Amino acid sequence: MSALTDCPILTIDGPSGSGKGTISRAVSLKVGWHLLDSGALYRLVALAGARAGLPADDPSAHAQLAAAMDVRFGADAAGNERVLLDGEDVGREIRSETAGQGASRVAAWPEVRAALLKRQRAFARPPGLVADGRDMGTVVFPEALLKIFLTASAEERALRRHKQLKDKGSDVSLAGLSREIAERDLRDETRQVAPLKAAPDACVIDSTGIGVGAVVQRVLELGVTRRLWTRERI
Ligand code: C5P
Repeated sequence: MSALTDCPILTIDGPSGSGKGTISRAVSLKVGWHLLDSGALYRLVALAGARAGLPADDPSAHAQLAAAMDVRFGADAAGNERVLLDGEDVGREIRSETAGQGASRVAAWPEVRAALLKRQRAFARPPGLVADGRDMGTVVFPEALLKIFLTASAEERALRRHKQLKDKGSDVSLAGLSREIAERDLRDETRQVAPLKAAPDACVIDSTGIGVGAVVQRVLELGVTRRLWTRERI
């Protein structure tokens, strides 16, 4: 259990395109735990800020918005993800690489990170939480029972994101996307507060050349060894 939350937590951190979202969703569905997609919160802050016409260089105005914005996560009847901002489904809009860049800019501000901390911790509810992000194991849930740091080669991460965006109907160039991802990762790794890095006690999984199913299985096995769930569950 985490002393912070009184609820078992699995954190999955890593750079863009490492497959955190896909793996976190699959594991949470398999074991019936709740899911926190913390990147979506940063994407929503950037979107809500742009919609409200906030100056792009005003951290405290964005932090106020981060604390107050009306956000709900869910799924439609077909199981597709829904992210509601002020009641409007913005699930598609926040997934673009432009939205990712906006998120990475607001995520570098300590005020915004502090404003989202409580919101993120509130996702921890029984029977357990799978938390996906950049600082889940280092800052938000330091007492998580199992911490994964998921990586893959830069080429493979760009290819995965490219396929993901194309499947969603976005026509982006692979070269441009690779540049944007490299820029975003550099900003995430070098910011002053909660930079992207593996927690000292994280299990590092390099998923280069490994399929989703095998990575999910590896995480599920690690969960058994840490007694997060029993072998019969997986
Ligand atoms: O994971 P995703 O690509 O949706 O995250 C978008 C951006 O949000 C990241 O590039 C990062 O700057 C920021 N982020 C963060 N901390 C998290 C999750 C996301 O700084 N826990």
